[in-house]
Amino acid sequence: MAAQTLDELVNEHYGTKGLLDRILTAARDAGIVLDEARSDDFSPVSEFHIGGRRATIDLAKMAQLCVGDKVLDIGSGLGGPARTLVEQFDVQVEGIDLTHEFCVVANELTRMTGLSNQAKFFQGDALSLPRDPNTYDVVWTQQSCMNIEDKRQMLSEVCRVLKPGGTYVFQEVLAGDQDGPIKLPVPWAGKVDMSFLWSPDAIRNLILRVGLVDAIWKNATNQYMEEYRILAAKTGDSAQPPIMGGHLLLGKQAGLMRKNVVENLSLGLISVYQGVFKKL
Ligand SMILES: C[S@@+](CC[C@H](N)C(=O)[O-])C[C@H]1O[C@@H](n2cnc3c(N)ncnc32)[C@H](O)[C@@H]1O
Repeated sequence: MAAQTLDELVNEHYGTKGLLDRILTAARDAGIVLDEARSDDFSPVSEFHIGGRRATIDLAKMAQLCVGDKVLDIGSGLGGPARTLVEQFDVQVEGIDLTHEFCVVANELTRMTGLSNQAKFFQGDALSLPRDPNTYDVVWTQQSCMNIEDKRQMLSEVCRVLKPGGTYVFQEVLAGDQDGPIKLPVPWAGKVDMSFLWSPDAIRNLILRVGLVDAIWKNATNQYMEEYRILAAKTGDSAQPPIMGGHLLLGKQAGLMRKNVVENLSLGLISVYQGVFKKL
C-alpha cells in the first residue's frame, strides 16, 4: 500500500466525522442557547492551541491589529481565533485550512454566532495559497506550522500575500532546548511523520531570510504552561472533563495527548514562541 501523503495524514488526524454534532450537543448540554451563542461559548473547543482565547488576544494586542484590517489566518482550524479577532478587534478574516471538516464546522459556528460577514473559511494548503500577492494587512499562523514540513515554501507564501507594511503574526510550538524525540501522541500529531518542530533560532532565521523583519520575538512557554497543566489535568481520564472541551476534537486520546504536551514542555523537548514580523 502506498504511504499516506501529508495532506491525507492531516485530514485523517483532525477531520473526525460528526464533529459539528458533537460540539452542538455538548453546547446544549452545557446550557448554551444556540440561537444566542457568542464566539466565546465555543472557545474551549475552537481555540485549538496552547493559551486558548487569552493567547489569541495577547497576540493580537502584540501585533496592534487595527479596525478593518484584512487578515489571513492560515491553518484556521475551527475558526475560534478568527471569531475572537472579529469580535474583539473588528477585523475581516479569511481562514484557510487543509482539513475539509474543520472549514465546514468553522463556517457553521461563525454563521451561528452572527459573524459570517467578517469571517469566512476555505479549504486550502498553506504551501500554495490561492490568493494574489500583496493582499493582506495581516497574516496569522497560530499553531498551524507543526504539521508543515516545507517551512520555507510556507513562509514564502506568507511573505507573498502580505501587503508591503503588513504584519505576520506567529505562535507556534517549536523544539525545546533539550534534544530527543517528543512523547506522542500530541494534539497536533499521532505519529512522528506528521510533526516537524524546528528550533526557535532556525525558524526565526528562515522568517528573516524570506524577507520579513522582526518586531517582537518571544519565548511564551512559561506564560501559558500553568494554565495548560490545569487544563490537561481536567482532561485526564480520572477527572470529569468540562462538557465543552478539547476531547470533542481529540477523542479518547485527549487526556494522553495533553499529558504528553505537559511532559514535553517540562522536559524542555518543546517550547512555545510568539512573534510579530513586518514586510517592508
Ligand atoms: C492545532 S490546529 C490549530 C488551529 C487554529 N490555528 C487554532 O489555533 O485554533 C492546526 C491546524 O493546521 C491545519 N494545517 C496543517 N497543515 C496545513 C497546511 N499545509 N495548510 C493549511 N492548514 C494546515 C490543520 O488542518 C489544523 O486545523
